[in-house]
Amino acid sequence: MKTVLEKLDTENIDERIIKKAGTILREGGLVAFPTETVYGLGGDALNPQSSQKIYVAKGRPSDNPLIVHIAKLEQLEDIAKDIPKDAYKMAEKFWPGPLTMILHKKSCVPKETTGGLETVAVRMPFHQGALKLIEESGGFIAAPSANRSGRPSPTKASHVIDDLYGLIDMILDGGQVGIGLESTIIDMSEEKPVILRPGFVTKKMLKDICSEVETDPGIGNNIGKEREPKAPGMKYRHYAPYGQLIVVEGEEKKVISTINYLVQERRMQGKRTGVLALEETKKAYVSDIVKSIGSRHNEEEIARSLFSALREFDELGVDFIYSEAFYTPHMGQAIMNRLLKAAGYTVVQAK
Ligand code: TXA
Ligand code: MG
Repeated sequence: MKTVLEKLDTENIDERIIKKAGTILREGGLVAFPTETVYGLGGDALNPQSSQKIYVAKGRPSDNPLIVHIAKLEQLEDIAKDIPKDAYKMAEKFWPGPLTMILHKKSCVPKETTGGLETVAVRMPFHQGALKLIEESGGFIAAPSANRSGRPSPTKASHVIDDLYGLIDMILDGGQVGIGLESTIIDMSEEKPVILRPGFVTKKMLKDICSEVETDPGIGNNIGKEREPKAPGMKYRHYAPYGQLIVVEGEEKKVISTINYLVQERRMQGKRTGVLALEETKKAYVSDIVKSIGSRHNEEEIARSLFSALREFDELGVDFIYSEAFYTPHMGQAIMNRLLKAAGYTVVQAK
């Protein structure tokens, strides 16, 4: 398949390009586009064939449901029913933005889009280009992250090109995304709201709207105590670089000496090693490659750089990646959720 590449300048959106992309979506094709979280792989959410095409292009298991993106609050009621009051309050506070809500679906949403579930995940992104595209496409875009299944989510168009070029109709290049981690998912379909995936919108922020918000124990970062998570996608191995990723936790000095020791051991075995560190600690490491994920004082930068850094290690052909843990105050839970998943929960305590 020929994949068309187009630039999408958010400061100055070219209506012709949005029209062209909208037409592809209306006709059942697939368009990758930027959002404020990560790039999405879009198809018409109400067209079962489009959703099937998304699963094929991503190589994604078809029991893993897609998020439906809308551009106007009124459209929520076209696809969801029995919407609780708190869901409206959350929408008012966090939409457009990086929050996805799980609600009971209406019959117009095909099972192909929801992975066979009776609920639907809905999000209104903040990104102006994404909003325009949703309107132009007819109002409902199903979009998972635009990576091949299991790979780190794309935060730049080049990541989408690496994974999906030749497999989809169009890629809209809107430059680097702002947040870099996928949206927070909250299940509003049961009695109490439950967070199924941590993200930029934190539990604390959600509790300000509804004090009853809980976190799905299945997504906890408690290593070794994993339970089956409720969001089907959270159970799959995810975000994984090709090299083996190991997270080293503990007091800073000990982390540095432990990582340097482990790196040395692997290098003696002839392996190529990488270290993922903070701007402040990177100079302390001796490894084939040392990458900074950002300053400890700038957690937004850490969140934005994580997936990109994992992909860069792949390009450099690294066999083993040792990473510090990044428990930052606001987004730490989301960052560590993705990092630990990417590591398949391989964690070493620094000695
Ligand atoms: O930031 C984001 O949310 C990005 C951008 C493109 O909007 N999208 C994204 O989609 O991360 P995806 O498909 O990579 O992740 C969607 C997650 C999966 O873990 C899936 O299992 C869960 O949402 N999900 C979707 N519908 C669900 C439902 N009805 N019930 C429970 N979990 C659901
Ligand atoms: Mg994904």
